[in-house]
Amino acid sequence: MKTIMIHEMPNHAGETVRIGGWLANKRSSGKIAFLQLRDGSGFVQGVVVKEVVGEDIFAKAKSMTQESSLYITAEVTVDERSTFGYELQVKEIEVIHEAVDYPITPKEHGTEFLMDHRHLWLRSRKQHAVMKIRDEVIRATYEFFHMNGFVKVDPPILTGSSPEGTSELFKTKYFDEDAFLSQSGQLYMEAAAMALGKVFSFGPTFRAEKSKTRRHLIEFWMIEPEMAFVEFEESLVVQEQYVTHVIQSVLQNCPIELERLDRDLSKLEKIQAPFPRISYDDAIKFLNDNGFDDIKWGEDFGAPHETAIAESYDMPVFITHYPIGIKPFYMQPHPDRDDVVLCADLIAPEGYGEIIGGSERVHDYELMKQRIKEHNLDESAYEWYLDLSKYGAVPHSGFGLGLERTVAWISGVEHVRETIPFPRLLNRLYP
Ligand code: 4AD
Ligand code: MG
Repeated sequence: MKTIMIHEMPNHAGETVRIGGWLANKRSSGKIAFLQLRDGSGFVQGVVVKEVVGEDIFAKAKSMTQESSLYITAEVTVDERSTFGYELQVKEIEVIHEAVDYPITPKEHGTEFLMDHRHLWLRSRKQHAVMKIRDEVIRATYEFFHMNGFVKVDPPILTGSSPEGTSELFKTKYFDEDAFLSQSGQLYMEAAAMALGKVFSFGPTFRAEKSKTRRHLIEFWMIEPEMAFVEFEESLVVQEQYVTHVIQSVLQNCPIELERLDRDLSKLEKIQAPFPRISYDDAIKFLNDNGFDDIKWGEDFGAPHETAIAESYDMPVFITHYPIGIKPFYMQPHPDRDDVVLCADLIAPEGYGEIIGGSERVHDYELMKQRIKEHNLDESAYEWYLDLSKYGAVPHSGFGLGLERTVAWISGVEHVRETIPFPRLLNRLYP
């Protein structure tokens, strides 16, 4: 007999198959038991009828404990009532390992308890759905960039430079030298773009940020494309097409997961490029006119400001042309204004905040040198980076999309801690 996985069941309707899995939950009466089974590829209901299987197997089904592992032999039948569309008519049960007192029961648990048991919590239906959506976002990312002529490049994790300012660096030792864990691969991706044209990276980044919000992780994953000969406006078009592709891919390939998360699909279905744009200047005016008297031109937005702006749109919105004083050294100044830069943050709807930060980059050698000085960065660590504007400098642009914030938005989960398998938070390194 064939051993198959749950996701393969649609190809085996009417057949008797064997599945290896775990018991997620069960309910039973005197004559019939319903086993909620999972095998990693999906969840399915197994029906055990006493009259069909006999006393012994029925007793086994009734006494089986949550998260015990088993092989089950069953006939695959159509089940019109579930989105998955299939269920199992159980014939045999072979328990592999009995789990005693599994800590996460179907009752409500507090978040800290669940986070302490993250290694087990990952097995539950909702967490499973979020991880599958994360995987689909990654798959669609590679698909989008490879379809559009980008080359995947991997920047280093151990570095000597700090693209996003020095206050949030994770310091470590590199033998006798000081080193940092990468807070962004951008500067290396700029070098790669000068070699390969259009490139993208996908990897972990680290921020020693003392932030404890629903949007902040200490270790998070970023997708960082960088494009030679691409100016500011053209980069925005790539960004909105990329985000649209990701959303449409998840809608198409994760319907079961989105349903399990109770996601309001109508909110995602309308996400289509082009996205609205608002300048930083106008965003400040909008905020001042709408009850936020506290924020003045030149200051950075907080989460409540971003949310207020995002609420005027049912699409992600680009906020463009921020003041030069609140952005990193590498951003290209506006051609007609010296107080703003050619940059944009993309703010997701529904309060999920900034999912992309991007800009055109400075490509003038003297200006770059001056900006490095103004930001009090150690020039010797940036000599290699300055070479890029010394030897065949070209206009170029790039951006970074935060994977976890994007997955949180698409999944509709409140906090980014549920969008990464093992979150690193301000006070959490366990498990
Ligand atoms: O805006 P950020 O800091 O931009 C950069 O690092 C650029 N060098 C990217 C580039 O142009 N290549 O970060 C980019 C994105 C943010 O928009 C946000 O989605 C995410 O990374 N991000 C975080 N996600 C979770 N936790 C944190 N602490 C994050 N910090 C940034
Ligand atoms: Mg940013």
